[in-house]
Formats: sequence, structure tokens, C-alpha cells
Amino acid sequence: MPSPPATILGLETSCDETAAAIVTDDGRVASNVVYSQHDLHGRYGGVVPELASRRHIETVEVVVLEAMQQAGITWSDLNAVAVTNGPGLAGALLVGVSLAKALSYALRIPLIDVNHLEGHLASAWIDDPDFPTPCVVLIVSGGHTHLYLVNPAGSYELIGHTLDDAAGEAFDKAAKMLSLGYPGGPALDRIGRKGDAGAIRFPRPYLKRGNLDFSFSGIKTALLYYLRDLDQAGQPKRVADIAASFQEAIVDVLVEKAFEAVRRFKVGAVAVVGGVSANSRLRTVLASRAASTGIRLSLPSLGYCTDNAAMIAAAGLKAYTQGRFTSWQLEATAESPHHRLATKRL
Ligand code: KG4
Ligand code: ZN
Repeated sequence: MPSPPATILGLETSCDETAAAIVTDDGRVASNVVYSQHDLHGRYGGVVPELASRRHIETVEVVVLEAMQQAGITWSDLNAVAVTNGPGLAGALLVGVSLAKALSYALRIPLIDVNHLEGHLASAWIDDPDFPTPCVVLIVSGGHTHLYLVNPAGSYELIGHTLDDAAGEAFDKAAKMLSLGYPGGPALDRIGRKGDAGAIRFPRPYLKRGNLDFSFSGIKTALLYYLRDLDQAGQPKRVADIAASFQEAIVDVLVEKAFEAVRRFKVGAVAVVGGVSANSRLRTVLASRAASTGIRLSLPSLGYCTDNAAMIAAAGLKAYTQGRFTSWQLEATAESPHHRLATKRL
């Protein structure tokens, strides 16, 4: 039996990106519009929640209209609206959730709430719809470093996570220490390309075989002491070498853990998603490890790594085909416990 037509509007306003996207029946992304607030928060060195919410309010309408126009559709073409509802900044989430509820009510179409991490998980299948399960998915973003085992039936379980900082947070803090500007991760990636990754040996915490948890605060502290010692000795900083070496330590840990999970659970496929999966060194090392081990790798294209609404619409499409809708009573929730995610189905 053919599935009902589905044109899904996805909305994402959980942090500092205002995003809207249209995904259609077959999972095709018809548009993916992201307005980034980086210029607004740059001078503060991090996201200011109140400013983020206000900027979402100012831009969300234009972003949605742009997504509709790029997809060449009108309101009456929409079959459902999917919106990120946690984890994220409460005031920022409220903007997307309020608009989604209003559209759902006005257009009489189903409302679907999507956990932000579920959105990142779904991004593994946007470019590669046949990516197999069971598989391991590593989410590496500014707030999360989480390893999941995705089962063939679509359920997923958390099999490892960071005990302190997330990988993206470590990149951002290191970039701040090196005065590379904001956002730190992409800046560190860029300058690291010009450096020698073997110049300094930073620690690789928790790399014991079999352990699937992460810890990045030790690498960050090692960098802090390294920079302090240089200052005290009056020596110049070779920023590109420091960035490349720091990045290499994080990449080593992420790749080892992802492939350790693949070994432990005897699966043939691994996906790495979330903002840090845009990191050029991480992508290179993952691709060569996948090639040498014969493990299938899914890395979303760059537009689906950092926060975007295509991944929210893609997760929404799955919910839509399964008839999983939300009521208009939906409230924006900043916290989104993992047990909720773990019991959901992709
Ligand atoms: O998924 P995302 O856009 O937002 C969250 O859900 O947190 O991830 C943002 C994180 C930030 O920490 C940012 O510095 C990091 O992803 N990031 C990168 C790169 N691009 C984004 N980290 C390292 N290299 C990059 N190229
Ligand atoms: Zn994210």
C-alpha cells in the first residue's frame, strides 16, 4: 500500500541557529535554511540565551517563508509540522514550539515534537537512506558526546557518554584559550590544518579497551597548563601546532570509542553526527579507519552536521509515517531525559 503523501516542515530553534526545512515523502530534503546567530554572540564568546530567543523571534518567520519558497510549496501542501523540543535553551525552544503549535492549529495538520538528539540521529540517514541497522551512532555536538546502538527495529539505546565536557565544548574552550574567536570548533579546525598534529602529546583519557565512556576535561586542563608553562617560560605559542595536536587527541578518542563500540556489539556500520562531525580531521580519520576495517560509515554532509531543521523534519517524517503526533498542549521543555529518547523509535 502506498504511504500517504508527506510534506513536512521542520523547525529548529534550540540554541543559536534559527532553521526551517522541508522534507518530502521519500525523505528528500526540498529546502534547508539556517540563519546562524554567530555574529550576535561572537563578542560575548558564547551563546547569550536571552539574546538568542529575541533573535529567533525576529528571524523565524523569514526563515520559514524562505524554506517554503525554496521548496516551491504553499501552506496547503504541508502535511505536518515537526519542531525541536529539548534539550536546549528554554526561551529559544519556546519560539519554535509556539510557531509550530500555531501553524498546526491554523492549518489543521499534525504537530510532531522531536528530541534534538533524535534529530541528529536521523541525520545519519538523510544522505544514505539505506544505511543499515544494527549500527552504532556517535553524536558529537556542543552539548553531547553520546554513543547509541540502533537496533534493526529502530529502537536505540545509550551505550556510552561523556562524564564531563562534550567534545564540542572542549573544542570551543580550547579555541577560547588560543584566542581563535567564536565559534571555536570550526576556527580550531581551520588553523589546525596548518599545524603538526604530532608536535605536542596531549592525554587520551579513558582510552582503555572496552570502555565506551568519554572524558574531555583532562585534555582541556592539559592544554591550560601547557599554555601557562609557555607563558611562564616566555616562549612563543605555535598556535597551529597546538590546535592540530589538541584536535588529534580528541579525534583519536572519538574514533577509537566509535570503533570499539562497533567491535563490542559486532555491527557492520557506524555513523558520526552532530556539529563536531563537521571536523575535517575527524572525517578524514573516520573514513580511513572505515576503509581499512570494511565497516560502513555514514557522515552527514556538512549542512546536516551542525544544527539544522532538515534533520528535525527527517525525524518528523518517521514519526508521521508511524502516526506519532503531539497534542497542542505541548510545552517547551529544556530538559529532555535520555530515558525518553531511549524508549522512542527511529
Ligand atoms: O550540533 P551543534 O551545531 O549544536 C549542538 O547541538 O550543540 O554542535 C555545535 C558544536 C560546537 O561546539 C562547535 O564548536 C562544534 O560543534 N563544531 C566543530 C566544527 N564545527 C562545529 N568542532 C570541531 N570542528 C568543526 N569543524
Ligand atoms: Zn545539535
